[in-house]
Order: sequence, then C-alpha cells, then structure tokens
Amino acid sequence: MISKGASFFAVGLATGLLIATCAFALLVRTQDARQSDAGGAVTVLKLAHGLDEQHPVHRAMVYMNELLQEKSGGTVHIDIYPSGQLGSETECIEQLQRGSIDMTKTSTAPLESFTPEMAVFGVPYLFRDEEHFWKVLDGEIGDELLRSGEASGMHGLCYYDAGARSFYTVDRPILKPSDLDRLKIRVQESDTAMTMVETLGGQPTPMEFGELFTSLQQGVVDGAENNPPSFHTTRHSEVCKHYSLDEHTRVPDMLLFSQEKWQQLSPQVQQWVQEAADASSIRQRELWKQKTAESLAAVEAEGVTIYRPDKTPFAEAVQPMHAQYAGTQIGELMRRISEVE
Ligand code: GCU
Repeated sequence: MISKGASFFAVGLATGLLIATCAFALLVRTQDARQSDAGGAVTVLKLAHGLDEQHPVHRAMVYMNELLQEKSGGTVHIDIYPSGQLGSETECIEQLQRGSIDMTKTSTAPLESFTPEMAVFGVPYLFRDEEHFWKVLDGEIGDELLRSGEASGMHGLCYYDAGARSFYTVDRPILKPSDLDRLKIRVQESDTAMTMVETLGGQPTPMEFGELFTSLQQGVVDGAENNPPSFHTTRHSEVCKHYSLDEHTRVPDMLLFSQEKWQQLSPQVQQWVQEAADASSIRQRELWKQKTAESLAAVEAEGVTIYRPDKTPFAEAVQPMHAQYAGTQIGELMRRISEVE
C-alpha cells in the first residue's frame, strides 16, 4: 500500500517536472524567436593575425567580413583579432590546428615548419619579378600550395600580396652583401630566412614580429627585413633610418581556415566564405600598391634614406642556397617555378 507521504511526494515530483518542462519549452521558444528575428542562427568566425589595423591586409579582411555578412544576410560574420592579440603567427597556426580559432592570416614563412612545401617562398630571387610571382600564385602551383596544408589541418582560402622583403638597419645601409657582415638581423621563424641571412654573411636572429620594435630600439638586433607597408605600420622606421630595396624574397601572406571547422560548415556557408575571401584577395592587391607607395613616401618624410642597390651581387651570393635547396623536397617545385614563363 502506498502511504500518504509517498503520494504527496509523487504529486510534488510530477508538478515539479511539469513546471521544469514548461520552463524549458518556453526557453527554447524564446531562443528560436531570437534566432529567427535575426534571420536564422548566427555563425561567428574567429580570425586572428599579427598585423596592424592600418595594414592593407587587415583592411582587405575587414572588407571580406562585410561581403560575407551581405552574402549571408547577416547570419555569418567574422570577429577579427589583429596585432597579435591572440599570439604570434606560429601560435595562431597551432590554435587553428586545435580548432580554438577558425581562421588565421599568416605569412607563409612560419608555415614552413608545418607544411615543408612553403619553404619555396623563402628561396631568395627564385621569382624573377612581381609578374612572375603572380603568374605562379594564380596558376596550378599556387593552387597546389594553397591545398598543401590540408594534411596538417589547414584549409587555404587565398593569398594576400606581401610584396618583396628588403633589409632595413639602424646604423648603416646594406648596399652589398658584405655590408651584412656580423650584423644581427631579425628573421621570421623560418629555416629559409635563417639560411638566407647566414649565406649573405649576417647573423640571423629569429624573433616574433611583435617583439621586434623593442629589440631594434634596445639594440638586441641591428636590423630586419620586410616590405614597405609593414616597415611603416610597425613604426620600425622610427628606429631604422636605412632601407635598402634589394627585394630578396617574395613571401606571400595566406588566409587559412581550420580544416576541422571548415568541414563543419554547410556547403552554402563554405561557398560564401570562399567567395568573400577571393574578392578580398583581389581588393587587397589594389590596396597593396597604394599603401606601398604611400609607405615609401611616408618613411622618407620621417628621415629614412631609401637605397636601390644593384640586386645582382645579392642574387649571386645566395646561389649556394639555391644549390642546397635544389637537393631537398622543394627542389622539383623550384624547378617548376623557374620554368613558368
Ligand atoms: C610581413 C607579413 C606578416 C609577418 C611579418 C614578419 O609583414 O605580412 O604576416 O608577420 O612579415 O616579418 O613576421
């Protein structure tokens, strides 16, 4: 026989369950209503990178976000964390692989440790000029390299122009390779960048981009190398008064999506993201040209002397590096690139 106490307990439990069920149903309905007011569930993508907000690459990604919001009717948008807020490029690549961020924009230099094929961009004077470089990137080889990170969890979306890299120094200009003698030059976290500076006679010092300003100021390094917009937007030009346009490498920037997260997106969202990235890459090339000219004029106005040294002695000095890398797994890629007309 069921006691009175037990039946009170059963009624109490049933009432409690009923109330909880109603409250849950109400909550779900409220959430649904909120979502449909906004035109469906909102997907927020997290993108981290190391450049300044004035940098043309950042501005191109802001444009990509605008396009994506337009295409998706506001249901997909990107939260962009610039200026190394979420860590160095290497740290962002690792976060991308773990899936703790959805997207990152990185130079291909630190990608070398994850995707060995990327080393090809670090071989100095492999590209004859800007036209040759874009012919390669816009063609079959560029596509292959964009996809080469998939095995290590990185889905390539597009390239951004990062121009050509050249040396800048605090005290004395680099007009010929021997001027690098014993100079400590900051390089990216990349084997090819280390080898290049060593081959030219300098002392390569790998360091995160975000630490470089203070290191230049404090004399930890004597110089570095980069493209004009990066030289200017980082204010390295306040410390380094000599900029020698020897244009040794063309190391592009790449926009990557976490492979794991990419596979979780619907084909429709994947298409919107890819289209927005492609359009931003085209826009970025225009922004780049403009900003490069502006940056060169601005640093000159700030008292930086710009030199245009003869590139031949630099190109000749790095020939041993070409021979060394021709024997590695990027040898075939180097050969194919040099054959692109
Ligand atoms: C370029 C590139 C950056 C990179 C930087 C560097 O500015 O666009 O992605 O971090 O070089 O030298 O580290």
